[in-house]
Amino acid sequence: MSDLQQEAPRLDAASSLREEALRLDAADPLAGHRARFALDDDTVYLDGNSLGALPAHVPARMADVIGRQWGELRIRSWDESGWWTAPERIGDRIAPLVGAAPGQIVVGDSTSVNVFKAVVAAARLAGEGRDEILVDGSTFPTDGYIAESAARMTGHRIVALDPADIPAAAGERTALALVNHIDYLSGRLHDLPGTTAALHAAGALAVWDLCHSAGALPVGLDEHGVDLAVGCTYKYLNGGPGSPAYLYVAERHQDRFDSPLPGWTSHADPFGMDPGYRAASGAVRGRVGTPDILSMLALEAALDVWDGVTIEAVRAKSLALTDFFLECVRAYVPEGRVTPVTPEAHGERGSQVGLRCADAPAVMPELIRRGVVGDLRPGLLRFGFTPLYVGFADAEKAARVLAEVLAGTPAGR
Ligand SMILES: Cc1ncc(COP(=O)(O)O)c(C=O)c1O
Repeated sequence: MSDLQQEAPRLDAASSLREEALRLDAADPLAGHRARFALDDDTVYLDGNSLGALPAHVPARMADVIGRQWGELRIRSWDESGWWTAPERIGDRIAPLVGAAPGQIVVGDSTSVNVFKAVVAAARLAGEGRDEILVDGSTFPTDGYIAESAARMTGHRIVALDPADIPAAAGERTALALVNHIDYLSGRLHDLPGTTAALHAAGALAVWDLCHSAGALPVGLDEHGVDLAVGCTYKYLNGGPGSPAYLYVAERHQDRFDSPLPGWTSHADPFGMDPGYRAASGAVRGRVGTPDILSMLALEAALDVWDGVTIEAVRAKSLALTDFFLECVRAYVPEGRVTPVTPEAHGERGSQVGLRCADAPAVMPELIRRGVVGDLRPGLLRFGFTPLYVGFADAEKAARVLAEVLAGTPAGR
């Protein structure tokens, strides 16, 4: 019997799952939001956890930014078009999405640079006598690299741990822990409230990387007493390739936030050209140099897609979508070809599904050729579900095409 014949019974499940997908899409309160994005009907885009899709109104807004604000107003735009205050203004647009009151988030630089600012500033806030920085051992690599360098510069030692072990490991030597809210490979959601509380009980600070959670689920930065946080804006916030990242500094720490990169735009009087540094107050302290205005204003425009959307509704749909995708994978894909690495429990799941697959390097390019765009990590097929523009029919189609591609890809290739 050929591989294809063996697949036939599993794909019988398709008609009922397709009907179920249509029912779920018809009942989806967020379904209308897809029309706000530049997407084509032939592609199932499951890579919004890497690069969010383009909100359809952004090109016209950027034409104005470039043609009028830059082209006609030129330098006047720093004031008249609000360029100078964009980092903190856009920070306040992101704030409700991550559960922060205004005045605590500043946008700018990359996530990597903000990790550096946050780790060094947290080590300084923790004070003398605490010589350990705990890091999530499975972290996205840049956080680990930067934390290691920051630790060398500040005289700390790095202790890499499973995030689940951080609460028990935090002690009197711990200055801070740097943890990813969601694991970039498995999609596992780490315990932000519990880990933050345990760090505080030990007298240490909690620094969270929100790259894979902001815009996908409620974060509750203020509610859970997080000290510092960073995140990117090109994933679920759809800011565009290389759009600037952000830094959250809880209000209670702002007066003592001592930036390791005290650039002139974080000075209390930046145009006074004072040879000595005096930090501005508030989130502005996290700024460094001249903001990257074009990327920043593309992000500001992109954030309009959140008007009228609650993060709770996004989370409910994200869980329903990932549940449904996993159900379709179980129904269609022959046993043993893929193994989900994403937790089943809702409380432990982000908005992506990772499938371990021995044939991943052959499978993902073929999926993309057939219009199902996910991404490839070592031994892993990774699919991101962005609730603002991915539907249940997309999830069903992705699983069905995956089964078809696997049927045509002999195991162990
Ligand atoms: C968890 C996490 N941290 C950091 C980064 C990268 O940061 P940067 O914006 O500096 O490239 C990524 C990129 O995907 C990420 O997933």
